[in-house]
Amino acid sequence: MKNYNSRTRTLVTGGAGFLGSHLCERLLSDGHDVICLDNFFTGTKDNIVHLLGNPHFELMRHDVTFPLYVEMDEIYNLACPASPIHYQHDPVQTTKTSVHGAINMLGLAKRTGARVFQASTSEVYGDPEVHPQPESYWGKVNPIGPRSCYDEGKRCAETLFFDYQRQHSLDIKVVRIFNTYGPRMHPNDGRVVSNFIVQALKGEDITIYGDGQQSRSFCYVDDMIEGFVRMMNSEAGFAGPVNMGNPGEFTMLELAEQVLKIVGGKSKLAYHTLPTDDPKQRQPDIALAKEKLDWEPTVALEDGLKETVAYFKELLD
Ligand SMILES: NC(=O)c1ccc[n+]([C@@H]2O[C@H](COP(=O)([O-])OP(=O)(O)OC[C@H]3O[C@@H](n4cnc5c(N)ncnc54)[C@H](O)[C@@H]3O)[C@@H](O)[C@H]2O)c1
Repeated sequence: MKNYNSRTRTLVTGGAGFLGSHLCERLLSDGHDVICLDNFFTGTKDNIVHLLGNPHFELMRHDVTFPLYVEMDEIYNLACPASPIHYQHDPVQTTKTSVHGAINMLGLAKRTGARVFQASTSEVYGDPEVHPQPESYWGKVNPIGPRSCYDEGKRCAETLFFDYQRQHSLDIKVVRIFNTYGPRMHPNDGRVVSNFIVQALKGEDITIYGDGQQSRSFCYVDDMIEGFVRMMNSEAGFAGPVNMGNPGEFTMLELAEQVLKIVGGKSKLAYHTLPTDDPKQRQPDIALAKEKLDWEPTVALEDGLKETVAYFKELLD
């Protein structure tokens, strides 16, 4: 049962983070009543401060590893630090956030009958032997390495989502997110797009790990949020998992060139050793998202980078 004015009551966990803050904005403009839940581990009030005056927006400081009792129609579960620097800071808490967080949000969905969305990750594929990765690929993941708290936590969360669907008939939606970038990324979380932009803006050397030939795909945040909303509104029974990302592949060297072209300046490239378990290649196969959701990214890397550079320029000024 929706509330009296029939606005959809929507919970966004991790709502003060990079993706969560854009999602809260989008849901408010679509007419939802939004509860933004966050423990501010990596998120910040600055990301949602402009929403605080909106009567349909509510901010709640809470940790998803503890149960929550609210009445909801939809739950987007995004809470989890997403960059290696942050998720390796307290790896036990990272696993707890994914696993206990999923249990708590699924429990809430079970009690309220809410539709529940999980922000999973391309990291469930680990260091893949198949390119690009379709959803049917089971992945090649190290269970005991420094990245495992994140990768295995997210894999276990997916397991819980599908078990709650099978066992309790929950209405679940699971998206596997590939590298996403845009305004409100953390300036110093070690992710490649923010790293390169911040280094270029400060005139520092651009850090390239390995020979810079490893490739990644980069999806602009607006495209990703459109995908989330389409997935949440997709036909009942379509649970995914569905890949979302931009299939266009760029090497680290190509990305560095694009950033330098937009920022200008005199930064040089500095080569460093490749970190443990760093995947050599990562590219989404988005055929399923195209077929089921009529979704594909529309923002070109150059355009998205321009927006992101503008954000960081203001942040660093
Ligand atoms: N950005 C990407 O490229 C990407 C790629 C794959 C998956 N994802 C997933 O998308 C989600 C959002 O990622 P993001 O890039 O916005 O990262 P982010 O770090 O900006 O956002 C995560 C948010 O979750 C909050 N959080 C962390 N632990 C929490 C806890 N225990 N309780 C409550 N809140 C908690 C943080 O404070 C932060 O606001 C994450 O689940 C991440 O794993 C993101």
